[in-house]
Amino acid sequence: MAKITYIEHDGKEHVIEVKPGQSVMEGAVKNNIPGIDADCGGACACATCHVYVDDAWADKTGKASVMEESMLDFANDLQPTSRLSCQIIVSDALDGLIIRMPENQH
Ligand code: FES
Repeated sequence: MAKITYIEHDGKEHVIEVKPGQSVMEGAVKNNIPGIDADCGGACACATCHVYVDDAWADKTGKASVMEESMLDFANDLQPTSRLSCQIIVSDALDGLIIRMPENQH
């Protein structure tokens, strides 16, 4: 399991153990963490699972694919470490990952 800290826009933290192989989005949705809508269910087709990866983790989570980049254009308030959380697959290497949610997903 990988421990992931999800931080809501207002600073409220949720620390969850997520199974490797699940996405960061699935970890949030399955644990009822607010701030990630995931309207398309993880198909990289909605951009409502937008998150900011903590700077210290940006290298480990890797870069967005071309398809993800094009969907990110539909997200609000993009930052350099913006990602779609359904496209970040959890592994043991991401144990300790910190992500932050934007103010809203629409
Ligand atoms: Fe729709 Fe991630 S859940 S793009």
